[in-house]
Amino acid sequence: MSGVTLEARELSKWFGSRTAVDSVSFTVHEGEVIGLLGPNGAGKTTTIRMLSTVLAPTGGDFAVAGVPSSRPAEIRARIGVLPESAGYPAYQTGLEYLMYHGRLFGLSGDEARQTAVRLLGQVGLADRGQSRIATYSRGMRQRLGIARALVNNPSVVFLDEPTLGLDPAGQREVLTLVRTIAEARGTTVVLSTHTLPEVEQVCSAVLIMNQGKVVVSGSVAEVTSTEPASRQSGRLRVPPGEVTRTAEAVRRVPGVSAEVSKDVVTVTSADGLNDVLSAVLGAGVTVLSFEVDGARLSDAFLAMTRGGTP
Ligand SMILES: Nc1ncnc2c1ncn2[C@@H]1O[C@H](COP(=O)(O)OP(=O)(O)O)[C@@H](O)[C@H]1O
Ligand SMILES: [Mg+2]
Repeated sequence: MSGVTLEARELSKWFGSRTAVDSVSFTVHEGEVIGLLGPNGAGKTTTIRMLSTVLAPTGGDFAVAGVPSSRPAEIRARIGVLPESAGYPAYQTGLEYLMYHGRLFGLSGDEARQTAVRLLGQVGLADRGQSRIATYSRGMRQRLGIARALVNNPSVVFLDEPTLGLDPAGQREVLTLVRTIAEARGTTVVLSTHTLPEVEQVCSAVLIMNQGKVVVSGSVAEVTSTEPASRQSGRLRVPPGEVTRTAEAVRRVPGVSAEVSKDVVTVTSADGLNDVLSAVLGAGVTVLSFEVDGARLSDAFLAMTRGGTP
């Protein structure tokens, strides 16, 4: 896997007493399309606004393309953003709009025009560049917004719900474009969405957020798998005096690891947990409870969007 282009460490944001983003940590690699998935209010937009230096974090830090969050101006030079509700000047043409943004990034008039024409072609608007944005469909505006996010040849692009409000054809066009950006340019894309199929179609990795927290993260293959996860973990609750003995018994089972905190032993196994309980009982431990995380990751997401907790 190529280099890390985005790293967040315990990133948090409070608005007054409301926690919008709660200690979120993750790593994204070059050329990866990562989906930020979660129901409304999960904290996706707030996360993107912090990573794109629009909002200052309340806690934690991050780095984009190796630039730490303490140097926001340098980060802004290396990123592109399609905000959640981007507005467009209706009186401008697509070409004028992109040229204007090219000039803002310091391109000469000629360079700005060349860049604008090239980007219009890449987003499928070559023959509409001379039309006023007022005449564009919503899908065309979103594609223009994506072109604008690419004007400075960024290392990382943030797209906040880029397909929201588009018809199926418009959605497909935007998603195809997202894939092209990542594959042809090697750009890292962070895409937020509240629908799982979108993640399945274009993302390589996913971070599922709920109520400001990352509840699940992993490769899309793991999240969308229809097989139960082969790797299992669970939590054994035992009397405080028996924690050490429990952990020892767990660690004697091949392929199983154990982590201890107070009266809970967290166990992880590559192939099921069936042998763990018998080993612990065999060691004479009084097991108070044994919770197994057997649910598929997609189940966790579905449970959340139904309003429950996984
Ligand atoms: N500027 C703000 N002031 C106060 N609360 C906010 C602000 N922005 C977001 N929030 C709150 O933070 C939480 C996360 O919001 P947001 O990041 O927009 O979620 P998402 O994009 O996943 O729908 C929500 O409860 C929202 O009401
Ligand atoms: Mg949002």
